[in-house]
Amino acid sequence: MNDASAVIRTQSITKIYDSGEVQVEALKGIDLRIAPGEMVAIMGASGSGKSTMLNILGCLDHPTRGDYYLDGIHVNELDNDQLADIRNRKIGFVFQGFNLLARTTAFENVELPLLYSRRQDIGDVEKLTRQALERVGLADRAHHFPNQLSGGQQQRVAIARALVNQPAIVLADEPTGNLDSRTSVEIMATFQELNRLGITLIMVTHEHDIADYCKRVIEFRDGRIIRDQAVPRPHDAVRDLEPSRWQAASQGERP
Ligand SMILES: Nc1ncnc2c1ncn2[C@@H]1O[C@H](COP(=O)(O)OP(=O)(O)O)[C@@H](O)[C@H]1O
Ligand SMILES: [Mg+2]
Repeated sequence: MNDASAVIRTQSITKIYDSGEVQVEALKGIDLRIAPGEMVAIMGASGSGKSTMLNILGCLDHPTRGDYYLDGIHVNELDNDQLADIRNRKIGFVFQGFNLLARTTAFENVELPLLYSRRQDIGDVEKLTRQALERVGLADRAHHFPNQLSGGQQQRVAIARALVNQPAIVLADEPTGNLDSRTSVEIMATFQELNRLGITLIMVTHEHDIADYCKRVIEFRDGRIIRDQAVPRPHDAVRDLEPSRWQAASQGERP
């Protein structure tokens, strides 16, 4: 069944890892619907199936059973080439460990998905790369190497790389897991800004403080969804970074 109002729709997704002797049922029938423009936190204990779910949503892995529709496309029916193509067009990934190439500048790291793309309609690679770096506030660091950047800056390069193909969704697996708390809030400010621009975001986190910046929280336990709730008033990361300025503004003073 197709569903035009959902960018992601899964029906009874199960995933069994089979390593010969032992079978692990990592997902036990996941029904999920995510609309365009949502910002979702996936929570749950270690081993509850979060990364498995994200990898399936990102077309990095196949479910054992169940159906997955991404932006109206029935992913189950695609061959490996088509999967690679849909990943390239529709999905951006951000990982806990940034996963940047070390001896490669920020600009070149961000440019890479465009160079690998087999799309003919890609446009001006240099301009798209610059725009992605501007969006994460790193235009002035384009020619720095990863080891010349802070952890937060490296993660923002990784976010720019995820954005450069102008994907419909960005998936992030514990994107703040390696960062201190202030830097984590800065990353959430970047994500909230992107979400305001219309990008659908799904991120795994085990920190409640971080999930509070999202609009919806889905909790996994033992391969099942045990909670799926809207966040009534998501925190505003920019506001949390500059509380004094916001206080002054709300009292009618100049910041
Ligand atoms: N490649 C794999 N082979 C076998 N078992 C796996 C593999 N990946 C994950 N698992 C198992 O599947 C379950 C869910 O793992 P995972 O999705 O990584 O959980 P989480 O991200 O919530 O920590 C765990 O029991 C884990 O050990
Ligand atoms: Mg995980």
